[in-house]
Amino acid sequence: DDGIRINPSILAADFANMQAELARIATADFVHVDVMDNHFVPNLTFGPQMVERVQATSPVPLDVHLMITDPDRWAPGYAEIGAASVTFHLEAATEPVALARRLRDIGSRAGVAVKPATPVESLFDLLDDFDQILVMTVEPGFGGQSFMPETMPKLRRLADEARRRGSSVWLQVDGGIGESTIAQAAEAGADTFVAGSAVFGAGDPAHAIAGLRAAAAA
Ligand code: DX5
Ligand code: ZN
Repeated sequence: DDGIRINPSILAADFANMQAELARIATADFVHVDVMDNHFVPNLTFGPQMVERVQATSPVPLDVHLMITDPDRWAPGYAEIGAASVTFHLEAATEPVALARRLRDIGSRAGVAVKPATPVESLFDLLDDFDQILVMTVEPGFGGQSFMPETMPKLRRLADEARRRGSSVWLQVDGGIGESTIAQAAEAGADTFVAGSAVFGAGDPAHAIAGLRAAAAA
């Protein structure tokens, strides 16, 4: 374990060949599963029934990213399916700390995500309540968008604070991550990297995963 995690997003996979697509990313750390409800974000993907089948088929554990309204109601169901981590959006949750506790009680890692315009300072006192924090590096909703470098100062402040407090929270980035952008996110303090198009759009996903890992460690 080099402390770097590469989590390919199946949003960029062929939904009609999910089992084969999952087999192509067996060298990843987690598979990132983007749940969208066409309400919190203007796009719709899949729900618990699909995620349960991905869980049953995937060679690596699931990292579920909920881009949905009312995660207080829906998030525990994804933990019950057996997802290794369940991340909900801070902007959507009414009781984030209580929800994190429920996710941990069920046995998942608890994650919280922030959109590019959402400050991270309100999370400083909650670092022990979460196992991972996702700093979105694009507006959530779609794959294939350009990385937003203006999110890096916020990530750096979060990483500095986590270090200062001796926190072991994982810091994740998601959106526009590829071989040309991953190093700046790693340098700013990220250790967990979601990549959709950079992995599934590559001819050889295992090679792409290895390339991302090397670029993050450099
Ligand atoms: C966007 C999703 C991302 C998306 C990333 O809302 O949360 O996980 O799949 O896709 P790429 O890596 O193509 O930007
Ligand atoms: Zn995502």
